[in-house]
Amino acid sequence: MASVDTGIEEAGITLEQAPEHASAAMHPAIHIRKRFRRFTPFQRWVHFFIMVSFSILVLTGMPLKYSDQAWAQTWMGFIGGVQNSGMLHRFAAIIMVTCVICMLGFFATILIRTRGRFWGPGSMVPNWQDYRDLKAMVNWFIGRTPRPRLQLDRYAYYEKGEFWAASAGVTIMCATGAILWYPEVAARVLPGIVINFALVNHSGGALLAMGFVVVFWHFFHAHLRPEAFPMDKAMYNGGLPLEEYAHERPLEYERLVKEGKLEDVLMEPLSARRMQYENILWWVITGCALVLWATFTIFVVWVTYHWLISF
Ligand code: HEM
Repeated sequence: MASVDTGIEEAGITLEQAPEHASAAMHPAIHIRKRFRRFTPFQRWVHFFIMVSFSILVLTGMPLKYSDQAWAQTWMGFIGGVQNSGMLHRFAAIIMVTCVICMLGFFATILIRTRGRFWGPGSMVPNWQDYRDLKAMVNWFIGRTPRPRLQLDRYAYYEKGEFWAASAGVTIMCATGAILWYPEVAARVLPGIVINFALVNHSGGALLAMGFVVVFWHFFHAHLRPEAFPMDKAMYNGGLPLEEYAHERPLEYERLVKEGKLEDVLMEPLSARRMQYENILWWVITGCALVLWATFTIFVVWVTYHWLISF
């Protein structure tokens, strides 16, 4: 056993500490330090473009919403004035709408491949186990029980929750944004009040998307959780060490082993040189993401403070 290179030490875990790794250590693929492919290049590119377009939409939309504030006027001047900002906002909106269309195509492909079955293991559809996991975590948060050791499948309850919240939010932002972009066309087919309604929803939805879904929810579990800090590399280079995956998502791992499909989702290890380049790029992206997060957080605190003193 001692001579088997499990890679477990590399993941910062010892066999004594983690008996649940025993099954991972037995698997023949592990001794060659293979990585588990968690996200395909398509999923990672869509995530990248959503991240970039969302950031541009916030940075160009918020100074419009708070145009009477000195900081908004300074920032608007810095990004080239209202005209430029509007162009940038529309350009980023096109990227976001394209991502939505690509994702719809992706889901349609899954539906065709699974012959209409979009629930079950590995799917984004919530199930009773998610409810039980959430309940166990809430009990821990409020101090009623010790920290539970969740047996997660491919997607955890908090990832599914964010996915559906973000999907609903993006759909609303795209629909209301399209009405604001072409108000004359909208007014031809819909009652005029819909344009006011779209502005209120777009404006409020932007705050909710940025404040709750991104600053609080997404950053909390994708960046600030001790296991993920400062950023989960899987969304960046697609994979993670197999032992780490077996530890974090034991249900999916065991299912793949049982079905004999593990080899299909393994990736070759990265070369040392590639790893070096990737690490530099990874720190640049992580640094930008954390700076944006800090800025958005300060902004959310500022909005909340002004809202509270307005009573
Ligand atoms: C989820 C990302 C988005 C955020 C955070 C966002 C944010 C904002 C904000 C804060 C405003 C200013 C509203 C106000 O004056 O009160 C705005 C305006 C606007 N947004 Fe968005 N938006 C997003 C997505 C979109 C999309 C997808 C579209 C188009 C399909 C769009 C089109 C517009 C248009 C046309 C305006 C009016 C801009 C102008 O008058 O120049 N937005 N957005």
